[in-house]
Amino acid sequence: MAAGQGTRMKSATPKVMHAVAGLPILGHVIAAMRASGVARIVVVTHKEGEEVRAFAAKLGASSVIQEKQLGTGHAAASAAPALADFSGALIVTYGDMPMLTAVTFEASFAAQAKTGMTMVGFRPKDAAAYGRMIVDGQGLLDRIVEFKDASAEERAVTLCNAGILTADSRSFFRWAAKLENNNKQGEYYLTDVPAFAKAEGVRCSVVEADETEMMGVNSRAELATAEAAMQARLRARALTNAVGMIAPDTVYLSYDTVLETDCQIEPFVVFAPGVIVRSGARIRAFSHLEGAVVGAGAIVGPYARLRPGAVLEEDVHVGNFVEVKNARVEKGAKANHLTYLGDARVGAGANIGAGTITCNYDGFEKHKTDIGAGAFIGSDTALVAPVKIGPGAITGAGSVITKDVPAGALAVTRAEQRELPGWADKFRERKKAAKVAKTKDK
Ligand code: UD1
Ligand code: MG
Repeated sequence: MAAGQGTRMKSATPKVMHAVAGLPILGHVIAAMRASGVARIVVVTHKEGEEVRAFAAKLGASSVIQEKQLGTGHAAASAAPALADFSGALIVTYGDMPMLTAVTFEASFAAQAKTGMTMVGFRPKDAAAYGRMIVDGQGLLDRIVEFKDASAEERAVTLCNAGILTADSRSFFRWAAKLENNNKQGEYYLTDVPAFAKAEGVRCSVVEADETEMMGVNSRAELATAEAAMQARLRARALTNAVGMIAPDTVYLSYDTVLETDCQIEPFVVFAPGVIVRSGARIRAFSHLEGAVVGAGAIVGPYARLRPGAVLEEDVHVGNFVEVKNARVEKGAKANHLTYLGDARVGAGANIGAGTITCNYDGFEKHKTDIGAGAFIGSDTALVAPVKIGPGAITGAGSVITKDVPAGALAVTRAEQRELPGWADKFRERKKAAKVAKTKDK
């Protein structure tokens, strides 16, 4: 369910499309559902939720529009037409809970298989305005009372409703169709569904889950809290997988960051989505990586930037203030200082001098630079693409290379050096004398 307006986010972006660890919140929920074996997913959206529907479609989920936001029960019921041909277990869950895991869904399905219906409960440190779950002596749900409708005694109950309901699909939609809105908020409550089940002899069991997992996002502050929780989870997972991190709290990971066992991540490294770091590679401090592959034994940074399409093969070195975009740097090649490699291939073992720039863009189109294996690019070379440097070729420092360089050749384009003996000394004397004359005049 993702039709809520999310007004407290104060954003043009729908709430569930805000990213946590580089993936929209809804993406986390859908991934957890898929991981628990859910085959069909229907996202309930606001009529203006075009962005949400497009994202859902990208993840293979369908969506429906809830014309008016009349409550959680109404939202769930609006998925009925989309699931008319479906029979089996159905799970209803909110789209704004990024920390949900497959484990909770699996536990829900297992419990539902026994009793016919299950809802997830949790015991938050601050029960705030959550719906309270009133259970009987056997731990089965008697009813859920919304905070606004609850008595002081009911408010004292610590077991809260997380909003995740599992039931037989056909029965669920039959019950949901009977919901009424005669309550304090005038809404159709999902929480009233168990009463209809009970009337037919179907009891609702309660699966208790961890509070962190039940975290919902309603505001920017809660989004930041969710991000911190997700980062903690991702870092713990990396450490368990024997990734070396001496300051994990300073490393920012994406939902899909792949860090192979025994790679090293130094402090203050940021991983945007789409990064793979192979075993034995080292990412040095203050580097930023996105859509890149770092090969085994490679060293990146400190202060390096790998942009989408950067592929570093084994033992490549990319040093400080080097930016690599859409470029393959082959085995053992080095670009250690102050360089831009964009739309390029750097052959195995090539050495890229400090200040080398691939001039890949003419203001209209991008062009390719191809550097052969073992080439040596002198410092401050501008490689004006499209251009090819043959294997083993050398470019002189400060050259602007506009034409292909054959294998094994030297290309130099700078003006030849002249020396004027004594010129510097004479220049200084002249300047000094002029300055003295000026101060005397005053
Ligand atoms: C709901 C529960 C409450 C529970 C709490 C947990 C009900 C009646 N109450 O309350 O017991 O403790 O969640 O967070 O179910 N949504 C729609 N369409 C609607 C209304 C809501 O799609 O018409 C979606 C929202 O986008 C959101 C979710 O349903 O993702 C929950 O809605 P919200 O209004 O936050 O429910 P609460 O009042 O917090
Ligand atoms: Mg809520």
